[in-house]
Amino acid sequence: MRRQTRSILLRFVPAFVIGITILSLPLSVRAQSRARKIFKDNCVVCHGADGTGNTPKGKALGAADLKSDEVQKQSDEELATVIAKGRGSMPAFADKLSQEAVNSLIAYIRRLPKK
Ligand code: HEC
Repeated sequence: MRRQTRSILLRFVPAFVIGITILSLPLSVRAQSRARKIFKDNCVVCHGADGTGNTPKGKALGAADLKSDEVQKQSDEELATVIAKGRGSMPAFADKLSQEAVNSLIAYIRRLPKK
């Protein structure tokens, strides 16, 4: 009986791990494309699709290059605060975006392709 339980477990656990891995891949891809849309809708006008801030509005306001070391070296908490509360010409998004949306944007910023 115990041996049987163990052999069921041995068969079940790897299948479970493989299943979770396969399921979580499209989930993270979906989260990333959702973040891309939030970024596009709210941030691209100033920061540009590539995050560099190389847009007319971004250049006029001095939008930060999101790929730069000055931005990337900051902690997630620091970036979340700037996005939520704004700073200088950077608008506050606390009323517009959920905490979850802000967190997904930070993950998105971290994954912007390096120069
Ligand atoms: C109206 C233009 C504008 C929009 C829209 C905008 N930003 Fe900014 N952003 C700025 C400017 C200007 C700065 C530089 C602020 C400063 O340091 O004075 C900045 C800075 C930042 C920084 C860097 C802060 C730092 O500490 O160096 C981050 C991160 C950032 N923005 C993220 C975002 C995200 C995410 C969005 C979309 C939700 C967004 N911004 C939308 C103009 C904008």
